[in-house]
Amino acid sequence: MLNVGTARLKAGKNEEIRDLLQAAEQSIQQAKGITQQLLTFTRGGEPVKTSMALQPMIKESVKFTLHGSKAKSRFDLPDDLWPVEIDPGQINQVINNLALNAVQAMSRGGHLTVTARNVTIEEGDQRTTALQPGNYVEVAIKDEGVGIPPENIDSIFDPYYTTREKGTGLGLFSVYSIIERHGGWITVESEVDLGTTFTFYLPAAADEEAAAISSEIKEGSGRVLVMDDDDTICLGLKALLGELGYEVETTANGEEAIERYGEALKSDQPFDAVIMDLTVPGGMGGAEAIGHLKELDPRVRAVVSSGYSTDPIMANYQEYGFEAVLMKPFQLADLSRAMDLVLG
Ligand SMILES: Nc1ncnc2c1ncn2[C@@H]1O[C@H](COP(=O)(O)OP(=O)(O)O)[C@@H](O)[C@H]1O
Ligand SMILES: [Mg+2]
Repeated sequence: MLNVGTARLKAGKNEEIRDLLQAAEQSIQQAKGITQQLLTFTRGGEPVKTSMALQPMIKESVKFTLHGSKAKSRFDLPDDLWPVEIDPGQINQVINNLALNAVQAMSRGGHLTVTARNVTIEEGDQRTTALQPGNYVEVAIKDEGVGIPPENIDSIFDPYYTTREKGTGLGLFSVYSIIERHGGWITVESEVDLGTTFTFYLPAAADEEAAAISSEIKEGSGRVLVMDDDDTICLGLKALLGELGYEVETTANGEEAIERYGEALKSDQPFDAVIMDLTVPGGMGGAEAIGHLKELDPRVRAVVSSGYSTDPIMANYQEYGFEAVLMKPFQLADLSRAMDLVLG
């Protein structure tokens, strides 16, 4: 997912670095994706929403899921699509789950077509009674797979309903819960042997212009201290922040981060910002470390990162002294946006 944005920034630069970034991003995605899926439906997963454009996320997410399969993707995503008010980690999971199901239904290959358009639901609209009147973005994901028999169609969103030998039956259940929590709606149409189309609606963001600007990738400068117990994330963040123009040092826990921040503060090269993981198993996490950093430097600019979108700190990050949140798995655009919030 990151590689698309990175390639855009790097056009003409080192190909080896590009591959490394892609590998780093994939392991972040795999490790955090599963954890997040489990947490989202087990803990109620209140979305941490931000307004953003859907097109880049849809493309990157679908391409990522289709990679190595026989299915081919097609996109019809208009440029003037309204930005949406979403939790990027959760909606990314929705798209991944739907694309994965489509791939599994098309083991012999076929096309996965993703179209999106702006839709206004009026009072008394016949299309759905499930949606409040207002502006929505409609996304349709259409496959040419085996289809779903009519007698099964009412069960597919049920938890643990699966027809696959190794299935969990939780994919569509979490899709449904996430869309519902976003004030959206999802529906399905299918014909055996012809294919299936899932269509979902997400509320459009109120402030269209602000959202369009915030989805861009911006370069910056300054020194950033990263704290995460996961080496892969540290390496990935270092590479990506480097791409954006920042100088980076990494630490593995809160104690180390406080020590390095303090040392640097006394030197002529203090840190301009910190990005800290919310929780660190067996060590001090960002939630606690931020208090100590504030004592050292009341003007500290901090981003909290986490795969646990359900943690109340992620929804109320400002009360804890953080200036921005970064949900794992994240994309280059998310990182750019967070950095722009703290240093822009
Ligand atoms: N695109 C699709 N084409 C055909 N069948 C599907 C599709 N998506 C979902 N299904 C059916 O719905 C069931 C539930 O899907 P899901 O909740 O993702 O669980 P799982 O993938 O673990 O089986 C699948 O087992 C399959 O029978
Ligand atoms: Mg599934």
